[in-house]
Amino acid sequence: MKRIFISLFILATFLWAKNIAYSDEVISLYLNQNDTKVIGRLLPTNAFEILKDQNDKVYIKINGYLNPKSPSVIYFNNSQRIIVAAFSKNTKLNFSYIKKGKNGKWDQVSLKIWADKKDFAKDNKKMLKRAKELFTNNCGICHTLHSEKEFNANAWPSVFRSMVNRTGIDKKDQWLIIEYLQKNAKDFKTK
Ligand code: HEC
Repeated sequence: MKRIFISLFILATFLWAKNIAYSDEVISLYLNQNDTKVIGRLLPTNAFEILKDQNDKVYIKINGYLNPKSPSVIYFNNSQRIIVAAFSKNTKLNFSYIKKGKNGKWDQVSLKIWADKKDFAKDNKKMLKRAKELFTNNCGICHTLHSEKEFNANAWPSVFRSMVNRTGIDKKDQWLIIEYLQKNAKDFKTK
């Protein structure tokens, strides 16, 4: 009896296990599977769930928070401008509302959308480590390295952008490093 329970438990965990993935680069998003028009971008280091895998696209579910004042951006938490995905204005997006934000906090939502298929990672540890290395190796050449904790999450994107042209950091790694810096900023909140 006990053994049956254990096998059932293992089977259930296997069936219900979500296919969570991460990208270390910016991924293009589309409303329909066969669209060529890009309507949004998913930014690196953020978790998403793969619901379907078809040819060169994946149908994914993105979770995050929506500021009612700027409903074309999904944010990582309910108060800081850490972008998970950003969409072109006026795109009709079919958000599912999970929880209404209170006291000026943003609404918790999820969104199902098509994305380009890439070699995704199962977790974001390695890519965050690479981001830290890129930051450390490139941003401490002319002056001592400014600590991740020196700036707030909302300040890092503009601080980074004002300096990045002085470095040899590849364009395709810039969002990876911005997400790393924001998620290690002095006021970073996980929720
Ligand atoms: C080629 C040299 C050089 C590199 C590389 C460089 N910086 Fe700077 N940084 C400077 C100079 C010079 C200043 C002084 C202010 C100015 O010139 O804008 C400065 C100033 C700063 C400041 C202080 C600005 C302020 O308003 O307090 C920060 C923060 C900073 N850099 C971060 C970075 C980061 C992050 C990187 C990597 C993306 C980086 N720097 C790469 C030359 C560099």
